[in-house]
Amino acid sequence: MTDISAHQRLLIIDFGSQVTQLIARRLREASIYCEIHPFQNVDDAFLRAFDPKAVILSGGPCSVLDEGSPRAPQSVFSLGVPVLGICYGQQVMMEQLGGKVESGHDREFGRAFVSPQPAELDLLDGWFDGGDEQVWMSHGDRVTELASGFAVYGTSPNAPFAITADPDRHFYAVQFHPEVHHTPNGAALYRNFVKLAGFTGDWTMGAYRAEAVEKIRAQVGDAKVICGLSGGVDSSVAAVLIHEAIGDQLTCVFVDTGMMRMGEADEVVGMFRDTYNIPLIHADESDLFIDALEGVSDPEVKRKTIGRLFVEVFDKHANSVGGAKFLAQGTLYPDVIESVSASGGPSVTIKSHHNVGGLPEKMNMKLVEPLRDLFKDEVRALGQELGLPARFVGRHPFPGPGLAIRCPGEITREKLEILRKADAVYLDQIRKHGLYDEIWQAFVALLPVRTVGVMGDGRSYDYACALRAVTSVDGMTADYYPFTHEFLGETATRIINEVQGINRVTYDITSKPPGTIEWE
Ligand code: XMP
Repeated sequence: MTDISAHQRLLIIDFGSQVTQLIARRLREASIYCEIHPFQNVDDAFLRAFDPKAVILSGGPCSVLDEGSPRAPQSVFSLGVPVLGICYGQQVMMEQLGGKVESGHDREFGRAFVSPQPAELDLLDGWFDGGDEQVWMSHGDRVTELASGFAVYGTSPNAPFAITADPDRHFYAVQFHPEVHHTPNGAALYRNFVKLAGFTGDWTMGAYRAEAVEKIRAQVGDAKVICGLSGGVDSSVAAVLIHEAIGDQLTCVFVDTGMMRMGEADEVVGMFRDTYNIPLIHADESDLFIDALEGVSDPEVKRKTIGRLFVEVFDKHANSVGGAKFLAQGTLYPDVIESVSASGGPSVTIKSHHNVGGLPEKMNMKLVEPLRDLFKDEVRALGQELGLPARFVGRHPFPGPGLAIRCPGEITREKLEILRKADAVYLDQIRKHGLYDEIWQAFVALLPVRTVGVMGDGRSYDYACALRAVTSVDGMTADYYPFTHEFLGETATRIINEVQGINRVTYDITSKPPGTIEWE
């Protein structure tokens, strides 16, 4: 969306590692513009057009010893720019530059410690100050012979070539993953790498905002745009940015699906009407959605039904604003990156995520996606830059299908109402205890099970619910939040006392993976 040619660019060639996105995150945190591209898409013409100031070769699940395994275009090594190879990327570099890789007899997965060598290396500024460095290894093969010009700058018990480099050509290759949290000093390696490559850190939200506004104007001209507001940060930030660019050509549509949390519709509609004066249609379609979902229990059917109805509602409103030619969405960079599967096949669908993403083909509208280059934390920074209220910018993510996927089993109006109340009490507790901003996302799932209890002198036979709260950086992996027992006890008591229909509360302590954040 932005004019990236105005920025210094770093290219990440993706060989399919699960953690390639984290490399981009580490770089963006250092104000560096970078893009991830699958190795299949990177050829000489692409390299010329992209004109990177540095290249990083990611890890990946293949073995360079396998026939047909991925390689970087050989011309990467004659661009005259610094190259950093990580894990599989290291092996690719060695192999392509004349070194040797062998199948590892000593496979190494998990935590390891790297010891320094006497020679100094610009990449390692700030490393080994306190002795050996903890790193995260994940490899079967390993380099056994260095390519010419390379020397060793760090070793681990099972990786004699843990850190290697040819400083004259600014080629660096490490066996471990500096991008993961388990390599605590990994960010320093990336900072050093971009510094020695001459990056000045010109990727700021102020610059992004100004460029995005220009781009939106150029794309849209004097046409009308509609934007679906979900109440989440992404669509709100997209709407405010587009409004800054084209004013009243933008109409926002807030579809109340009846699957919203308590007070959500009022909060979103209020903010947009009162603070921003952005034309807004508040489409209360709760009956339409709930009627279609009542009795449905299959998670995929729920998701697809909601997606289909959104299409219908949007279509109606696109016509009602006098023929909108564009649909704005808050698509983020993680949704855009093509992930490479090791087998070359499509990756497994865990869930059909519904945001407004499935809509446009059917609606004949073109897309305006001003956040396509951003990660979630960058969207929050842009929201701040645009002056959105802090309570809005810091909101927990909320899924498009809403409470429908927090109500495993059959959906009924009664269950949605119980869930809404329990969720409100839970979030109130979290806010009161000052924990909201420490948590990535928190919600209640109403379980499709009734349990026996004793309340007062009588027997109760009501629903059980599960509380969920996770910490995460980007929603791709997550850990459960370690509430105190006091907090959990107090919250359970409040929910049971204040919400008729629930008599049992449990806490979900599953991380992602193997779980997912939502229950469906
Ligand atoms: P999962 O459950 O896949 O969720 O671990 C990861 C993050 O994505 C959100 N989520 C969705 N967001 N439409 C959305 O806009 C969806 O269909 C959807 N499903 C899950 C989820 O709330 C979490 O933040």
